[in-house]
Amino acid sequence: MADLSRFFVASSLAVSVVVFLLLGFRRRRPSLKLPPGPAGWPFVGNLFQIAFAGKPMIHLVRDLRLRYGPIFTLRMGVRTLIVVTSPELVHEALIEKGQLFASRPAESTIRAVFSCDKFTVNSAVYGPEWRSLRRNMVSGMLSASRLREFHPARVSAMDRFVQRLRAEAEANGGAVWVLRNARFAVFAILLSMTFGVTLEEDEIVRIDEMMKRVLLCISPRMDDYLPFLGPFYAKHQRKVLQVRKEQVETVTALINRRRAILNDRRIEPHAAPFSYLDSLLDLKVDGRDCAPSEPQLVTLCSEFINGGTDTTSTAIEWAMARIIDNPNIQAKLHEEIVATVGDRPVDDRDIEKLTYLQAFVKELLRKHPPTYFSLTHAAVELAKLGGYDIPPDANLELFLPTISEDPRLWSNPLEFNPDRFITGGEAADITGSAGIRMIPFGAGRRICPGLAMGTTHIGLMVARMVQAFEWQLHPSEPKLDFMDKVEFTIVMKRRLLALVKPRN
Ligand code: HEM
Repeated sequence: MADLSRFFVASSLAVSVVVFLLLGFRRRRPSLKLPPGPAGWPFVGNLFQIAFAGKPMIHLVRDLRLRYGPIFTLRMGVRTLIVVTSPELVHEALIEKGQLFASRPAESTIRAVFSCDKFTVNSAVYGPEWRSLRRNMVSGMLSASRLREFHPARVSAMDRFVQRLRAEAEANGGAVWVLRNARFAVFAILLSMTFGVTLEEDEIVRIDEMMKRVLLCISPRMDDYLPFLGPFYAKHQRKVLQVRKEQVETVTALINRRRAILNDRRIEPHAAPFSYLDSLLDLKVDGRDCAPSEPQLVTLCSEFINGGTDTTSTAIEWAMARIIDNPNIQAKLHEEIVATVGDRPVDDRDIEKLTYLQAFVKELLRKHPPTYFSLTHAAVELAKLGGYDIPPDANLELFLPTISEDPRLWSNPLEFNPDRFITGGEAADITGSAGIRMIPFGAGRRICPGLAMGTTHIGLMVARMVQAFEWQLHPSEPKLDFMDKVEFTIVMKRRLLALVKPRN
């Protein structure tokens, strides 16, 4: 509501600006054939139709798709959103014309503060800088060999995770909050991979709280769409700069700690031999003649930690809801672990032998992709998609659920059934290279570089949770439903409170 009143005050003060911009807006693209879409209001376009539709955008997309087809345009103030919802069009954009649609759109002013003006893998425009940063992240940290090197950090984080669940259950008559614990465990692993140090629990909590403040700050604001409202957000802008300062201070302390270890390993003999930060310290980025500055290091380290935390932990919450909902699935997962691994704790090297677990993870990512929209793409130049014009300043939004629930591609797509992926069943190429059927990590040049690590962490955490406990819904909770909402990622509308019973 505060946003709305700011808007009305500002718009009455700025009628002349509106008229001027409106005329300019109409003149700008006289001959483009954009995809169809709802008629908008002058100047604000569809902004308020979307804001007051009574449904979040993630649900509204399905209605708009029925009305306008698999590709449609929404005009949100000065931004043009082109939403793509079909596997054919996503294939055309990300695979057939992959190079044309591999860029990212302009950042909002807030995001530019946190990304150091697009100096991150996820925000960089398609070009040499993005290539250098991405190559470094993949070879420096996310390759199969690097993943293996961090096996000890993963084992200790998983042991800590199970102990935390056990302690919480003992203190609360068996009740545990799934998302909070999963998030903490993933965050701890990513922190230790980024800085190569083991942190105390309260330190991890403090850093996590700071990162959450960052995520809250970068949520879209009305002036992202109507920039003339910028002056009305001066107070928020000051808050943004304060949060960025906090982020720089907190992360710089960790960077300095790692630097000291690299100078003299005796300071922390148990520190990891390698960390993501090490790969960044003297990184040569194409097109730049110096190594990343301190604020850029803070930004790149934060990207690594944040990219994998909410996505992975969200998946764990949906996973446990499905396991609780279907005792048969829980029994099959447990039986497979007992038969394949026995009594010792499951570790990441066991995952490839656990066939049913792998099928479960695929079905989880098909039915509950942690983000419904891929990261926003942009065309590098004026391009065609589905026969329509896509200007380079438009946001290309790829909607993932309508692909993984397409009845032309999947049998009983609404059913949650891991068995569909067991030998002889349906194909599950999640990279999109053999055709677009489900792409929870995106596809093509910008595909998520954390795909292997993300799926390993989900499989490992689910396995350890099922191995250690029997899972039920807490009796204080109403019947499980699978309603969703946006909270950075797509989380369960009602947080999952489980009742656990240790298995031994
Ligand atoms: C279940 C876990 C994860 C899911 C579902 C997921 C999903 C995604 C998606 C949908 C994209 C956008 C792809 C596109 O633009 O087309 C993406 C990009 C990205 N992800 Fe992930 N992600 C996960 C885990 C991770 C992890 C563990 C990391 C790193 C530690 C990571 C780092 C990134 C980065 C850096 C990008 C940007 C790539 C680029 O622009 O070139 N993600 N992810």
